[in-house]
Amino acid sequence: MKREKAKKIQKKSSLSLMTGRVKARRMPTPATVRKFQNDVYAYYREYGRDLPWRMIDDPYHILVSEIMLQQTQVQRVMEKYEQFTGIFPDFHSLTKAPLRKILKVWQGMGYNRRAIALKQIAQKIVEEFDGNLPASIETLITFPGIGRATASAIVTFAFQHSTVFIETNIRRVFIHYFFHDMENIKDAEILPLVERTLDSSNPREWYYALMDYGVMLKQKYENPNRRSAHYQKQSPFQGSNRQIRGMVLRLLVHESNVSEHDIAQKLNMCEEKIRNNLSQLVKEGFIKKDKRGFTVA
Ligand code: ADE
Repeated sequence: MKREKAKKIQKKSSLSLMTGRVKARRMPTPATVRKFQNDVYAYYREYGRDLPWRMIDDPYHILVSEIMLQQTQVQRVMEKYEQFTGIFPDFHSLTKAPLRKILKVWQGMGYNRRAIALKQIAQKIVEEFDGNLPASIETLITFPGIGRATASAIVTFAFQHSTVFIETNIRRVFIHYFFHDMENIKDAEILPLVERTLDSSNPREWYYALMDYGVMLKQKYENPNRRSAHYQKQSPFQGSNRQIRGMVLRLLVHESNVSEHDIAQKLNMCEEKIRNNLSQLVKEGFIKKDKRGFTVA
């Protein structure tokens, strides 16, 4: 790497303001930064994944993929992303589609709240932003279902902005590389390193490379993210209320006006188990109830 580039990386950048500077245990030297970038890029050149939502500029497609990838594995997203963007190719088509149809296509992805969020985001963009996704993290985090990491990923991938963010694969890379033998590592300690090592000449590709390197580390080593202060094992899905709500919704995208009694019968469950979940689904805007029974909103 050229000397000027190393200097640029070392320089305090305006990104510090965005991340709220927190002292890392130690900052890597320019040589370490260079080696880190070379290692990550070398892996990416050889094994980088050619995913359908990469190397594209269309903000709608990038938004859909990032929302899908929040809580669903890449393999499953690959199948659903093509189907979803085929049926709903832009913000306008999502605003016009009934929620029932969107939820039907979303089936199999889990965390259905994201499908509602996507429709609400599309509505906001069409009504308030003239159909254009704003290239601003501060604006995007005011949208439903978008936190700071997702907003940062979107503006990086759609607009090549140099943002600083962490997601699960990126966290793994930094813990593995810079926090040997340490436990309880906070994201606030990792963020300054993400900033220091960012390739601001091509942030989009740099983050693709980081993510792919993180996937490789998971396969090769005991998950370094166990040493993160934010590590949480997913609670079991089997028998959970989340599973019951998914089953209810799957039923109601195919049938309308179904009573609580009939839902319980069709799902082979007692009504008590169904009741709270139905109220929750109504409260969250998935379904509505009238005197004929429950229907997708
Ligand atoms: N490529 C672009 N965004 C991604 C993500 N969130 N996870 C994995 N690969 C990606």
